[in-house]
Amino acid sequence: MYNEIDLDKIDINLKPPMEEPARQYYFMARCREWVREFERKNGRRPTAFIQTFGCQMNSRDSEKLLGVLRTIGYQEADSEKADFVLYNTCTVRENANQKVYGKLGFLQTLKRRNPKMKIAVCGCMMQETDEIETIKRSYRFVDIVFGTHNIYKLAELLDKQIQTEKQTIDVWEDTAEIVEDLPNQRKFPFKSGVNIMFGCNNFCSYCIVPYVRGRERSRNPEDIVAEVERLAADGVVEVMLLGQNVNSYGKTLKEPVSFAQLLQRVEAVEGIERIRFMTPHPKDLSDELIAVMAQSQKICKQIHLPIQSGSTEILKKMNRHYTKEQYLGLVERIRAVMPDISITTDIIVGFPGETEEDFLETLDVVRRVRYDSAFTFIYSKRSGTPAAEMLEQVPETVVKERFERLLLEVQKISSELTGKDVGKTELVLVEEQNAQNSEMVTGRLSNNMIVHFPGGTELIGKILPVKLIEAKGFYYIGEQEQK
Ligand code: SAH
Ligand code: SF4
Ligand code: F3S
Repeated sequence: MYNEIDLDKIDINLKPPMEEPARQYYFMARCREWVREFERKNGRRPTAFIQTFGCQMNSRDSEKLLGVLRTIGYQEADSEKADFVLYNTCTVRENANQKVYGKLGFLQTLKRRNPKMKIAVCGCMMQETDEIETIKRSYRFVDIVFGTHNIYKLAELLDKQIQTEKQTIDVWEDTAEIVEDLPNQRKFPFKSGVNIMFGCNNFCSYCIVPYVRGRERSRNPEDIVAEVERLAADGVVEVMLLGQNVNSYGKTLKEPVSFAQLLQRVEAVEGIERIRFMTPHPKDLSDELIAVMAQSQKICKQIHLPIQSGSTEILKKMNRHYTKEQYLGLVERIRAVMPDISITTDIIVGFPGETEEDFLETLDVVRRVRYDSAFTFIYSKRSGTPAAEMLEQVPETVVKERFERLLLEVQKISSELTGKDVGKTELVLVEEQNAQNSEMVTGRLSNNMIVHFPGGTELIGKILPVKLIEAKGFYYIGEQEQK
């Protein structure tokens, strides 16, 4: 098993192997020599800090990056005052990019005080040529830049930067490769994301993801199940299967497997108690999937089903491939067999050409579906996407006003819904000590709602029956049910 490989057995005087992941373990061994040298000189190990922006894909990537750094010998730091700082970036909306540049400015001042500090930037934003140019031109103090397709190469790039002491940039346009079996360091011992596919082929007209994450590639089901088995053996009870459109999982494999079939194989893994997934695309959510979810004991009764807009006209311009009626029909089919399922969504306000009537269609869907919660976004123009070329951009004041109205409606409905389970006893996976009150812990229901209840840290990672005493808008206060 690669995860348990002994770096001391690797001969770093030989040439690096060409095959992966052996090549990366070779570079980890080389970097570790450098870490040992650092330790001899400074009387301590170097520290590393990773900050992640964006979605669950990036969070999972960061766990892999941290796994590599830990294997090399870095100690994890809890702030940017570290010897190695890595920003794993997102570029889905404009403000995400601005935030990163602001933070890089701050790192420059830290680096003046600690000139040996290494700064690296990776992730989706680095897949854009303009951003690379900006880094080369105005951020010379950034030591390493890489993209989404080669995150597994961190050790090799770090070794190169150590040897050359020059800004090291390696970004690929796309890849067909999936490198398995590298180390990873989970944020939570009891739950984990699991990539089932990479990239996206949908090209929704507003979205940058297909350009920065490349074409869709599915992992083999055997590799996924083996990873889930390893996680279960390591104490994980909840997995979240990750992909930009999980419904198209497995279609391009040599032996095609449907997402519903994959779920059944994951369900068979002993020790796994809860299975979640994101994101399914409404255009191809199958009845097979609904049936598998309905009869499953482990798949959580929760589904994130991004609508983006309630107007069929706008959905067409967004290239979403469903109408308002088809979406509502899908929700009905899901609720017919799982009446208690929690449904959440993503909504974009102010897509080019959105009229007041289009917006009212969105509000109408919100009122009809009654989402447990919804992520609402103001449309952000991403250059390179077809929507950025559309001429009828909606004025900012109009967008803001619609956004406020939408938010009010979404919040009103979700606080009404939270109340409905008060008095019931439900299973809670305890995740952490409560941030405000150390005599309480915080966990999640199967439908992903948050519950705070009195208890100590020994409960973390356990699944317990908790009585829901009070609803507070977006969360519950509960009490552990005594046996
Ligand atoms: N693959 C997922 C979404 C990934 S991006 C899906 O198809 O549902 C997460 C969310 O960001 C999207 O659902 C969308 O609501 C939002 N988003 C993407 N591009 C955006 C843009 N240009 N402006 C505003 N929001 C955007
Ligand atoms: Fe973006 Fe659409 Fe792909 Fe989701 S499905 S990542 S919104 S292009
Ligand atoms: Fe952002 Fe990349 Fe995810 S652009 S939303 S981090 S796939």
